[in-house]
Amino acid sequence: MPSIVIVGAQWGDEGKGKITDLLAEKADVVVRFQGGNNAGHTIVRGDDVYKLHLMPSGILYPGKLCVIGNGVVIDPKVITEEIVELTRRGIDVSGLRISANAHLIMPYHKLLDQEGEARLGKLQIGTTKRGIGPCYADKASRLGIRVQDLLDEKILRQKIYAALEPKRQLLRPYERDPIIDLQTMVQEYRRFGQRLAPYIADAPPIIWDALDRGCLVVFEGAQGTLLDIDHGTYPFVTSSNPVAGSATIGAGVGPKDINEVWGVTKAYATRVGSGPFASELDDDLGNRLREAGGEYGTTTGRPRRTGWLDLVALRYAARVNGLTALAITKLDVLSGIGPLQLATRYRGPEGAEFDAFPYHQSILHKATAVYEQLPGWDDDITGVRRFEDLPAAAQDYLRYVENFVGVPLALVGVGPARDQVIEIDRSAPLQRAA
Ligand code: GDP
Ligand code: IMO
Ligand code: MG
Repeated sequence: MPSIVIVGAQWGDEGKGKITDLLAEKADVVVRFQGGNNAGHTIVRGDDVYKLHLMPSGILYPGKLCVIGNGVVIDPKVITEEIVELTRRGIDVSGLRISANAHLIMPYHKLLDQEGEARLGKLQIGTTKRGIGPCYADKASRLGIRVQDLLDEKILRQKIYAALEPKRQLLRPYERDPIIDLQTMVQEYRRFGQRLAPYIADAPPIIWDALDRGCLVVFEGAQGTLLDIDHGTYPFVTSSNPVAGSATIGAGVGPKDINEVWGVTKAYATRVGSGPFASELDDDLGNRLREAGGEYGTTTGRPRRTGWLDLVALRYAARVNGLTALAITKLDVLSGIGPLQLATRYRGPEGAEFDAFPYHQSILHKATAVYEQLPGWDDDITGVRRFEDLPAAAQDYLRYVENFVGVPLALVGVGPARDQVIEIDRSAPLQRAA
């Protein structure tokens, strides 16, 4: 059985939760390896909708080993609430394991995130204000508080004290706020430690063991390639690496332990927060896509920006991640939209056209998309389960994407529910002969 990394191939919210849940059925272990509760992964099971922020999307299978890896930043309040809420809904979360080396989001990280955005004014990134950036910054500064620190009050106090000192100036407006009082924080986080203690573990050996036994391990990415701090649209990015390579670091395995990398993309594009988006639709059609696709943030409820599928960016994501398969979600949302545009080139500020994703910010921020138009379809496709039963125009659309990106299609989503997928046999080339 291979190990599979699932990554977002756009700006997040591609449907990673649904795809992870599907693949998790056969997996021994599901691992989150980066990001924090800036993520919102939706799983629909019948009438039940689960919105997970930190919990790996394999948790709905009773007792399934679900690891939150060292690369994740954890708000202990949020994971505690997720445990309580899922348990209340009858979900067995006994398979949860939290890496002792993962970093913790502290109350001051959330304040610094808010303050940082306020200071940037018009230039703000549009973060989720969950403290993600400041937490990763402390990790890199070696001032982070880790999960294992929750278990030792003396160490916890010392580390919080050391982390707070350099921030006093920035936190001056909150000087008297009990939320960042040292004693209050130590007590609150000790309580979280007691609640979370049964789940805290040395995570990598759990994953190594599954890999050594030849079992399927699914690594679940958060955010998306274009939000990657190194490979995304910096500075309008998150503070971690959502790309596939990051799975090794955030889980504690080697590159050779990864067999497959699945990139998840919508059949169109969305983005929450600021930053370049060459194929954005700033018009009625964009609003129609938003309403048809229910494009409102899972974490913050913010309306998502919408646009056409950007194949320049998708091909870049395929390369950066080394994608071995594509999962295209929300094809159903394009029904009745009319002729469809696919961004196949960019036009730069001086008018020149090119087809490589630009590395230079001055070009990236001013580039507009150049499109190839394909016919649309009006049929409701939410009940279709086989590629060949899709309308011809929908088949052509998918073939076009697959050929352009050069990565085989493995799954197509035609609705939010678990069974609303078309599985494509990647070993059957006839299916995709035009
Ligand atoms: P994630 O962050 O990548 O896990 O994605 P989100 O859960 O934030 O957003 C994806 C949204 O699309 C969720 O509301 C899903 O239930 C929904 N979804 C996933 N796949 C499909 C699909 O194929 N069709 C439709 N209509 N909705 C889908
Ligand atoms: P999932 O895993 C979509 C965006 C924010 C903002 C930028 C930085 O559900 O796909 P941050 O709070 O991370 O510092 O914000 O990243 N962002 C996401 N957008 N889906 C997500 O997660 C996101 N997580 C962060 O909107 O633009
Ligand atoms: Mg999401």
